[in-house]
Amino acid sequence: MLSCRLDEGAELRPLEPWQAAEFAAHADRDRAHFEPWLQWTQLVTDEESARAFLQRYADRQAADDGRIYGIWSHGRLVGGTLFRIFSPADGLCEIGVWLSPEAQGRGLITRAARLMIDWAVGERGMHRVEWRNAVENERSKAVAKRLGMTLDGVLREAFPYLGRRFDIEVWSLLASEWRSGDAPPRA
Ligand SMILES: CC(C)(COP(=O)(O)OP(=O)(O)OC[C@H]1O[C@@H](n2cnc3c(N)ncnc32)[C@H](O)[C@@H]1OP(=O)(O)O)[C@@H](O)C(=O)NCCC(=O)NCCS
Repeated sequence: MLSCRLDEGAELRPLEPWQAAEFAAHADRDRAHFEPWLQWTQLVTDEESARAFLQRYADRQAADDGRIYGIWSHGRLVGGTLFRIFSPADGLCEIGVWLSPEAQGRGLITRAARLMIDWAVGERGMHRVEWRNAVENERSKAVAKRLGMTLDGVLREAFPYLGRRFDIEVWSLLASEWRSGDAPPRA
C-alpha cells in the first residue's frame, strides 16, 4: 500500500523512519491533545526518539508483527493509525489511532480503520480485531461503535499511566461479523 485516499484532501500512507522530523513536529504540535490518551507520546519527544519509535515499527513490520500509518491532509501530517498488536498466527490484531484536533469530525479515522480491517480480515485472515480505550475517552469509544464493534468488557484499573490507573474498555469485531455485514456499511 503506497497511499489510500480517505477523502478529497486526505490520504493514509505508511509512516516510516525517514519521516521522523515530520512525526516529531506533529507529536509536539498537538501533544496536549494526544498525551492524556496515548502512551507513545511519552516516548516521542524529539526527532531522534521519533526515529527510534518509527524504526521499532519498521522492524516489527518486517517481522509481520505490527504496522504504523500516517494520515496526511492537504500534505500535512494530521494523525495516524497503527496495528499495535498484529499476530497472524493467533488471527488477532489491535488497532490504535490519533488525529489532530483540526482534522477531527471528518470521519478520517473511521475510514482509515475500515481500510485496515478490510486488509487484516480479507487479505491476512485475521479472526478478531480489537480496540482499547480508556472509559473516559468518548471520541475513541464512538469510533469503535461506528465500526460496529462489540464491547467485550472493562479491564478495571489495568493501565498505569500519568500517575493513575485507567479502566480500559476492550472492543472487538469478528471476521464473520465484518464479512456478513453485521457491522455497519463501509465508506
Ligand atoms: C479518537 C479520535 C482519533 C477520534 O477522531 P474523530 O474525528 O472523532 O473520529 P473520525 O475521524 O472517525 O470522525 C468521526 C466524526 O466525523 C463525523 N463524520 C463526518 N463524515 C463522516 C463519515 N463519512 N464517516 C464517519 N464519520 C463521519 C462523525 O459524525 C463524527 O463527528 P462527531 O464526533 O462530531 O460526531 C480523536 O478524537 C483523537 O485523536 N483523540 C486523541 C487521541 C486518542 O484518544 N486516541 C485514541 C486512543 S484509544
